[in-house]
Amino acid sequence: MLVEKNVPLQSSNTFGIMAKALTLVRVGSEADIAAVLQDASLAAQPKFVLGGGSNIVLTGDVKALVLKVEIMGKRLLRETDKAWIIEAGAGENWHELVSWTLQMGYPGLENLALIPGTVGASPVQNIGAYGVELQDRFESLDAVDLTTGQPFTLNAAQCAFGYRDSVFKHASQAGEAAGAQALGLAHRTLITRVRFSLPKQWKPVLGYADIEKKMLQSNVDKPSALQIYEWICEVRKVKLPDPQVVGNAGSFFKNPTVSPEQCADIIQREPKIVHYHLADGSVKLAAGWLIDACGWKGKSIGNAGVYEKQALVLVNRGGTSNPVTGGEVMTLAKAIQTSVYERFGIRLEPEPVVV
Ligand code: EPU
Repeated sequence: MLVEKNVPLQSSNTFGIMAKALTLVRVGSEADIAAVLQDASLAAQPKFVLGGGSNIVLTGDVKALVLKVEIMGKRLLRETDKAWIIEAGAGENWHELVSWTLQMGYPGLENLALIPGTVGASPVQNIGAYGVELQDRFESLDAVDLTTGQPFTLNAAQCAFGYRDSVFKHASQAGEAAGAQALGLAHRTLITRVRFSLPKQWKPVLGYADIEKKMLQSNVDKPSALQIYEWICEVRKVKLPDPQVVGNAGSFFKNPTVSPEQCADIIQREPKIVHYHLADGSVKLAAGWLIDACGWKGKSIGNAGVYEKQALVLVNRGGTSNPVTGGEVMTLAKAIQTSVYERFGIRLEPEPVVV
């Protein structure tokens, strides 16, 4: 095990924020985790698990021991009558996994193409796009409890998936009954491998405005999985900045949910508000629209900016030479939250983890 000191993290977070890990260990296997936990001084330190760094805002040097997950490998684990079960190491790049499954003839992940980040991070925030969420294709995952060194496996119910949410985003509460759902797993879990169940009876997930537009334009009414994959890549490239070119962490806020009564009240004042009725009776509002309506699109505070083509995305306007700071990102985020609250009475909740 190599213990590295003062490791620059600028290229390990997609915002491109400049910060250091005071201590960093690369985790290529379960044995590396065991080695960390057997070292008394490392074991005693708080730990921060770093995947692709695509959903974090670094507000300073990271003092916790950074465990950089580099567990690789992807394979067809088994096949049932109904599904292919694919297993991938937590350190694999998400988009490369999606591309590989399609090349191998296992469709099902195409709507999740081009999402930045790693396989291990995908269940943490239950990534989702164009009508598919990770939980729709999830089978189980392996992880290690960083407080005890114990490996464990969780199924979908135990991961307690929600909209951009899971048991891995919640801290544990003392005194609760055992069971992953009751015990939040934030700050104490390292996900090592994730398994996906891809049904052999593949059904395209269409019905999303951007995809319907592609179908009309190209006159294709029964697209293949590969066709959908290509459309999703095209749509994302137009709407969302490539973090290799313009630093960002994807959507910065979650789309808020309100009651039908609240929604009716807002519609009276703001008839054009973009909203979607959910199965449980609540109404989801487009945070991008709310931010756009407050006039934020294209605006900046310091080197933190609101992306010109999608107001839900905050970007690094200083590039790699004079990058945005985590403080600037959070100042801009707070200013946006305040103006959306003042105009609509809605509190926007940030999506990325602030470190
Ligand atoms: N809109 C505006 N102005 C804007 C941005 C959006 O008016 O500046 C309107 C759009 O016209 C549209 C609506 O808001 O009517 C929704 O926009 P869009 O379809 O682009 O999707 P979104 O709600 O902004 C969500 C996810 C994305 C995901 C897309 C596609 C969240 C927080 N974001 O964005 O996920 O790719 O849907 O499914 O749920 C991410 O999580 O990082 C992410 C990029």
